[in-house]
Amino acid sequence: MRKKIVAGNWKMNNNFNQTKDLVTELKEFNFPKDVSVMISPAYPFLKTSVDLLQDSSIKVVSQNIHQKNNGAYTGEVSSEMLKSIGVNNTLIGHSERRAYFNETDDVLLEKIEFALNNNLNIIFCFGEELSDRKSNNHFKLVKTQLDNTVLKMNKESWKNIILAYEPVWAIGTGETATPEQAQEMHEFVRNYICECYDNSVSDNVSILYGGSVKPSNASEIFNKNDVDGGLIGGASLSAKDFNLIIEANSSL
Ligand code: PGA
Repeated sequence: MRKKIVAGNWKMNNNFNQTKDLVTELKEFNFPKDVSVMISPAYPFLKTSVDLLQDSSIKVVSQNIHQKNNGAYTGEVSSEMLKSIGVNNTLIGHSERRAYFNETDDVLLEKIEFALNNNLNIIFCFGEELSDRKSNNHFKLVKTQLDNTVLKMNKESWKNIILAYEPVWAIGTGETATPEQAQEMHEFVRNYICECYDNSVSDNVSILYGGSVKPSNASEIFNKNDVDGGLIGGASLSAKDFNLIIEANSSL
């Protein structure tokens, strides 16, 4: 069954004390039981977040991983390292990683393989730039992004894959895809996954929407059939707003 999920991507925001405060504040909420909540603080604060959330259902997610297990890769962090501190989930392919750190589909494929081999669950991000949408190339682009990466995984692996459609033009811009635009892409992706495997995969994969989701627009987006939740950047830095977004995804 598809899970409802709301994940907060804190990006390179919050120092140690601010991270602890935000995690502690989030722990106080009684989140709806039908929504799985995840947060993605920066690397140095992952272990503290895991420790603070010992008795909580909130899951901790890494923002990135390296595509090797160990070795001379100065500045990088591996899946194995994350597992050793109790982090079982990672984002892969966020558009900021693609744009600023030259993460190509080939690199992302390696990261996906390493993460899954180390039993990490992944949230794989994909989505088009504004120019792709303007030239009506967005479906083709998304299809290629998926063909080159997650769709190379076997059927079994999909138990550990969550997808996040994040149109680049909507990230951090205040401009959100309309609920119809989100639904149209999510449906396209779900149908395509069904074609590539079968409906045991497509009916069970959660597809999140990301890009300027806030309390005021969350429920109309989450209400769409193929939208299972959100990957939230800016609005996840406020415990109050993040909670409202989580509540917007509940059907209880
Ligand atoms: P945003 O970021 O909510 O600030 O647009 C979303 C994301 O980058 O995951």
